[in-house]
Amino acid sequence: MVRIASAVGLVMFSVALLILSLISYVSIKKDFLISTPRYGVNGGPRMYMFHAGFRSQLAMKYLDPAFSSLTNILSEDLQNSSKWRYNSTAFQQQRQSIAQYIDIPHNFTLIRESVKIGQLMHYDYSSHKYVYSISENFRSLLPEVSPILNKHYNVCAVVGNSGILTGSRCGAQIEKFDFVFRCNFAPTEIFKKDVGRRTNMTTFNPSILEKYYNNLLTVQDRNNFFLSLKKLDGAILWIPAFFFHTSATVTRTLVDFFVEHRGQLKVQLAWPGNIMQYINNYWKTKQLSPKRLSTGILMYTLASSMCDQIHLYGFWPFGWDPNTGNELPYHYYDKKGTKFTTKWQESHQLPAEFKLLYKMHSDGVLKLSLSHCA
Ligand SMILES: *[C@@H]1O[C@H](CO)[C@@H](O)[C@H](O)[C@H]1NC(C)=O
Ligand SMILES: *[C@@H]1O[C@H](CO)[C@@H](O)[C@H](O)[C@H]1NC(C)=O
Ligand SMILES: *[C@@H]1O[C@H](CO)[C@@H](O)[C@H](O)[C@H]1NC(C)=O
Ligand SMILES: *[C@@H]1O[C@H](CO)[C@@H](O)[C@H](O)[C@H]1NC(C)=O
Repeated sequence: MVRIASAVGLVMFSVALLILSLISYVSIKKDFLISTPRYGVNGGPRMYMFHAGFRSQLAMKYLDPAFSSLTNILSEDLQNSSKWRYNSTAFQQQRQSIAQYIDIPHNFTLIRESVKIGQLMHYDYSSHKYVYSISENFRSLLPEVSPILNKHYNVCAVVGNSGILTGSRCGAQIEKFDFVFRCNFAPTEIFKKDVGRRTNMTTFNPSILEKYYNNLLTVQDRNNFFLSLKKLDGAILWIPAFFFHTSATVTRTLVDFFVEHRGQLKVQLAWPGNIMQYINNYWKTKQLSPKRLSTGILMYTLASSMCDQIHLYGFWPFGWDPNTGNELPYHYYDKKGTKFTTKWQESHQLPAEFKLLYKMHSDGVLKLSLSHCA
């Protein structure tokens, strides 16, 4: 049963990669697909079956050999992720080229000194006509120095929210990293077996207040929000308030809440300014230029300046599990039965992003975890 499921998963996965490889908006560099064609030396019988079957059915007809080498690497990885090797030179090179576009420690947050009361902020993804006037309260919540200035960590995890984490049992592994990044205030407590609890930084899109905390309209909502923040302890809450003008009202609610609870919470607030153009400019050099970069790759970008090695979990934008072939929810925390959504496919171009991350994985720049943890 398990074997059949796995084989089905791998075949579906390969088909997805085939589709990806045909997506025309990505200009595929020859060296990408051909790079490191490592065949399944220790692949085992299951992989052998998969390779043979897959080749005979599809490869001859549709695939160039470069493509099948990519699927070979991927399926090998799924079976034995300990084969991955970190290439510190390649990572350092990437870190340096990112640094040519973005000064991450400084772009990380606005600081008190950098803004004036009454200053008008614009939004990265909204028309220039929309503005947010910096209030005294807002300014008072800004840190005096960037919380990541001169901070360096050894091995970091960036945890995305993909449904691939459901049932992964990767929690214990994630707990062991020196610094754990998470996205969009994702819940951890009840999913701790799969995703761990440790959180050193999480992003917080102000719209979360609307979606999960009823705009803090009742005492109960405020208590719930307070308790969620309390659990974050000394972690960094990274609040992109200047990406969308639709955040303006919730941002004010959020600012009031933090001012009212000053001194009662240990969470460190960080408020990035208009930084996306710099970040976009870097990823454009990698032929990735979606309408909006995903929060996940944004976290990876920030992590690249703070960490010496980065492992990604929960980065998988497809609706089935490559390990089992089972259907997946979009997020690991989606309610049971929630259908996979392609709502963000167009704005984020997640398959193209995944492909790039996978190339980086193959190059040893980062480690992408897709398999279940022991
Ligand atoms: C996985 O690969 C590593 C390194 O190549 C090897 O030492 C290990 O025995 C392999 N494990 C399995 C289960 O194949
Ligand atoms: C590591 O990356 C560098 C730079 O991309 C490359 O020149 C080198 O061959 C890589 N080393 C290994 C062992 O793959
Ligand atoms: C972000 O970094 C860029 C490039 O170093 C710099 O020009 C820009 O002023 C910074 N922006 C913010 C808001 O920190
Ligand atoms: C990361 O968070 C954990 C708790 O979630 C904490 O124990 C640890 O000290 C934090 N590490 C850093 C480097 O801040």
